[in-house]
Formats: sequence, C-alpha cells, structure tokens
Amino acid sequence: MATWATALTLDSSSPLMEQLIFFHDHALSILLIITILVGYLLTELLFNKQINRFLLEGQLIELIWTILPALTLIFIALPSLQLLYLIDEMKNPLISIKSIGHQWYWSYEYSDFKNLEFNSYMIPPQESQSYHFRLLDVDNRTIVPFNSQIRLLVTAADVIHSWTVPALGVKIDATPGRLNQIKFLLNRPGLFFGQCSEICGTNHSFMPIVLESISPSNFIKWIKSQV
Ligand code: CUA
Repeated sequence: MATWATALTLDSSSPLMEQLIFFHDHALSILLIITILVGYLLTELLFNKQINRFLLEGQLIELIWTILPALTLIFIALPSLQLLYLIDEMKNPLISIKSIGHQWYWSYEYSDFKNLEFNSYMIPPQESQSYHFRLLDVDNRTIVPFNSQIRLLVTAADVIHSWTVPALGVKIDATPGRLNQIKFLLNRPGLFFGQCSEICGTNHSFMPIVLESISPSNFIKWIKSQV
C-alpha cells in the first residue's frame, strides 16, 4: 500500500507487476545513458574552441546517429510488446470474479459459486475506526485466493470507471455495455488497496478497492460460509 513516503512504485505482489517494474527500470536505464551522453556532448560542444570551416556534410555520422536511436527504440519496444501480450494471455483461470463499477462503489459477483454477490462501499471518514485506512477501507472486501490464476471481468452500470490495484499491475476500464477481462495472480497473502482511476463523478475519489488475499483453503472456507 502506498503511504506518504512512497516515492517509487510499490513492491509487486504478482509476477506480472514484477516484470512491469523490471521493464520500467530497463527503460529508465536507457534513458539515463542517453541523458548522460547527450549532456556530455552538449557541454563539450559549448566549452571548446574547435571549429571546422569546411564542414558541409557528414554522411557517415548521420547514418550512425539515425541507426543507433532506431536500435535503442527496438530494445525498448520488443520487451514492451512481450509484456503487453503476456498480460493479455489467459489460460485456465481457477476462478472468475465480476466487478461492476457504479456511481460510486464497486459491486462483485462470484458466479462460480451459486452467484455470490455483494457491494463494496468505502467506510466514510466519520465512521472510520483507528484500524481503518481512511478513505481506503471498504465494508465488504474482495476476498481472493493467492497462488491462483484469477480472471477478473470488469464492467460498469452507469459511467466509465476503472478498476485499478497498483500492487497487481492491474488497471482496466469498466465501461457500460462492455465486458473487459484481465487476469492476475497474487503471490502472497495480505491486503491490497486500489482506487477508481477514471474520472467518474463527484465521488470518484471515494470508491476504493480492497483485495484480501488469503490461502486457497481459507478461501474455500469463506465461500462455504457465504453460500
Ligand atoms: Cu469510478 Cu472514478
């Protein structure tokens, strides 16, 4: 969960988010190398007295400084595309959860289990207890098993919302009349917080998402207690 001191991305809690962070670091390293190289060349250019009165063209250097950036872009584009398709790839999800965005709360349907349904409202600040995370906690958490491939189906009932949980690397629009799907796999137990990230109205900031990741056996116990 992000706190006031969180400057960089959150630690990942799913393999795909881990890969996304690796890709981010890879892209930033390339950026850093380019910045240092260009910075060095610019300062060198400013602080020396070398002049070539007969310089009109330089075919070779132009060839080099056209091909080198193109190569650099390929080194960024290929892993980016690989990740993009990896995120979309889904094979035998263990459970499917449907999440519906409303103004301004999320509702969930676990249709694998006799259609278990519930709404998930934010705990209003005036009712917040000391054990609550202010403006981030909900009355009904979304319970999910860890180490399991989970398919999330996302849609909305009124306007566009966006189901976003940073620790999972999941950010998917909830659009009325459309059913979007995404998958994730949690690799540890814990509470994972998210918020709507599509400007959806006055209470846009007040429709948080709380995932409670528990062991598969406890998940089955919870399901049994619900249906
Ligand atoms: Cu729902 Cu912003």
